[in-house]
Amino acid sequence: MKISVPTLLVLMSAGVLGLTSAYGQSIPKPDFTAQVDKLLAQMTVEEKVGQMTQVTIDVVSKDMPAPLQPGARHQLDPAKLRTAITKYHVGSILNVMGSAYSVDHWHEIITQIQDVATRETRLKIPVIYGVDAIHGANYTTGATIFPQSLGMAATWNPGLMRRDGEITAYEVRASGIPWNFNPVLDIGRQPLWPRLFETFGEDPYLAATMGVAYVRGLEGEENQINQKDKVAACLKHYLGYSFPHTGKHRTPAYIPEIMLREYFLPTFKAAVEAGAHTVMVNSSEINGVPVHASHYYLTELLRDELGFEGFVVSDWADIINLHTRERVAATPKEAVRQAVMAGIAMSMVPLDFSFYDHLLALVREGAVPMRRIDEAVGRILRVKFALGLFENPYPDKTLRSKFASPEFRAVALQAARESLVLLKNQNNLLPLAPSTKLLVTGPTADKLSVLNGGWTITWQGNEESLYPHEHHTILEALQEKFGKPNVTHVPGASFQEEIDVAAAVQAAQSAQAVILCLGEEAYCETPGNIMDLSLPRAQLNLAQALQQTGKPVILVLAQGRPRLIREIEEKSAAILAAFLPGVQGGTAIAEVLAGEVNPSGKLPITYPRHPNDLTLYDHKFSEQASEHQSYKPQFPFGFGLSYTTFAYSDLALDKTRLKPGEALTVSVTVKNTGTRAGQEIVQLYLTDLYASITPHNQRLKRFEKIPLAPGESRRVTFTLQPQDLSFIGRELKPTIEPGEFKVAVGPLAQQFWLE
Ligand code: BGC
Repeated sequence: MKISVPTLLVLMSAGVLGLTSAYGQSIPKPDFTAQVDKLLAQMTVEEKVGQMTQVTIDVVSKDMPAPLQPGARHQLDPAKLRTAITKYHVGSILNVMGSAYSVDHWHEIITQIQDVATRETRLKIPVIYGVDAIHGANYTTGATIFPQSLGMAATWNPGLMRRDGEITAYEVRASGIPWNFNPVLDIGRQPLWPRLFETFGEDPYLAATMGVAYVRGLEGEENQINQKDKVAACLKHYLGYSFPHTGKHRTPAYIPEIMLREYFLPTFKAAVEAGAHTVMVNSSEINGVPVHASHYYLTELLRDELGFEGFVVSDWADIINLHTRERVAATPKEAVRQAVMAGIAMSMVPLDFSFYDHLLALVREGAVPMRRIDEAVGRILRVKFALGLFENPYPDKTLRSKFASPEFRAVALQAARESLVLLKNQNNLLPLAPSTKLLVTGPTADKLSVLNGGWTITWQGNEESLYPHEHHTILEALQEKFGKPNVTHVPGASFQEEIDVAAAVQAAQSAQAVILCLGEEAYCETPGNIMDLSLPRAQLNLAQALQQTGKPVILVLAQGRPRLIREIEEKSAAILAAFLPGVQGGTAIAEVLAGEVNPSGKLPITYPRHPNDLTLYDHKFSEQASEHQSYKPQFPFGFGLSYTTFAYSDLALDKTRLKPGEALTVSVTVKNTGTRAGQEIVQLYLTDLYASITPHNQRLKRFEKIPLAPGESRRVTFTLQPQDLSFIGRELKPTIEPGEFKVAVGPLAQQFWLE
């Protein structure tokens, strides 16, 4: 017998099973219906269409000479601002023009905008301002900067993730901004994709857990986003954005519905259930259908099936793109009709008022019914009410007190430490003894931008001169830790070119170890496209030349994607993967190399070995059918070493025969068998051994990060709920089938039977 999850949920809500969802229940919010209806009744069609229009700050700013100079002074243009708000009634403004602003400048901007909106318009509807605060309030100077999401996922620490959300919300709101275009809930199963670093990796369960923790951090436990230090979250980029066939940004994905629901929908479902207030749309297409024009994805699936109550915003210019790029609309006006009828409430136009003009014409012609407009505007207004903007749309100056405080920075430093993944440590070379003589070389050794990536101070994150240089590059942090006289620096190579490889080889002779810092320069979105996942040849050449010296080479990788290191892995004595740990990453890396911090991160992605072997950890059995066909990545998902060792014993299940609807308790003892304190990430994987849809060889179902002192052991207990045994079945619904399952924790495994 198959029990579908909807049936189970009915039983649950009837109190029969008393189960809770893995991520917590949907939270009822005040719906502000009376206030919204009252306002809608007073609004003209122009005012309504204006609410649905979002422009970028450039549209309301004085021109800045092109090319834009880094750090150039930005100024709003009062006349343009008035045109946007009083003539076009725009409901929302976004982004930063140029580079990050001070808290003061943000306050001026938001105050000027709200002054016009609430003093010079008939209905005094406040503007909702939105920014991309992707790893901290990265568009406010001096903000607390966290690792990018891929690094946060490598911490496997939802508690830290939640603190990241809380601190980001605080500092964004301290800047006067109530709306954050984050988290990215796209699943990172295509390593070429230039936005992989913005994701929580390849696994839906890990990503949903981290995503929900972050949403709770941003919005608060009960989504009380009117609190002065909370912001509205924006789940993006719904749906299937991260899986372009070619790996290039904003290009077509081909994802069968069964796969979409198995891998790509769960993060969004979980975060919608966690009450997130807004959603941003995938700029591209799934199976030839642009998501911006899809009534199925935006209305039937998101709103009707998942029960999303907030509003949907388009991505950058993606409505007009239905005409110019995706070409499913023969005119710009038809593009607007398709998007609005599909379910988009707000258009990130963002450079002009064309959306406003087209939509107004469409409503007047009857091509877009008024009830659709009311529905969309009602959703936008509800979020504005929920944010408390009608009561006070202005920046709260008291929030300066903790902005970039030592308390917040300490959390971000801890996150950077926990995001580091030790992938190799031959003969326990690491940690290095104090005053070891080091050669530090490679393109990521002496830059802050390479530790941060896109969405840092500027969109591309590559304006090195704008970084706060009170923070340390890897080189500076190592100089501080090991003593300047002990550290020699030779550039060696840039990202793509050799510079002075011979000089690096020469310098290695007098060093006891080589810290070779490789990886990627900062990028984001389309400029980050690559044709080859391998590390560029110049970097590999530098590595190989240094490896020939016989000195131990410690590879430190600062990168947004797993660039291939097959040719240099074997002869590297140690490897530390840093992903993008943020401005304090240099310090964290030095602390790990010096042994002040014991690394505890684990890979949230599979680290591939070969460019065309992109098999992931949860592959099907057929993908490991022979030695010519198996999961042999450079490093597997969930892998990461420590300076101590852990042993697993006594795996126990509370029952080996499960009745339908019953929970299963799994416990295991984990012991620190080494001589240093450390944190272990205990991971539970489940395998459905036989099923009507070919089962995965394993799926991550639970994890817990635990600290253990030397010699200490702890019993870790996990509870699996019936829905954890489900998969998306032939009817495209979560399905549970009786039969044999296997639970694995560490090296231990046991089977059980579901009746
Ligand atoms: C990105 C979004 C971002 C938006 C606003 C787009 O190019 O895809 O993630 O929120 O710009 O900056």
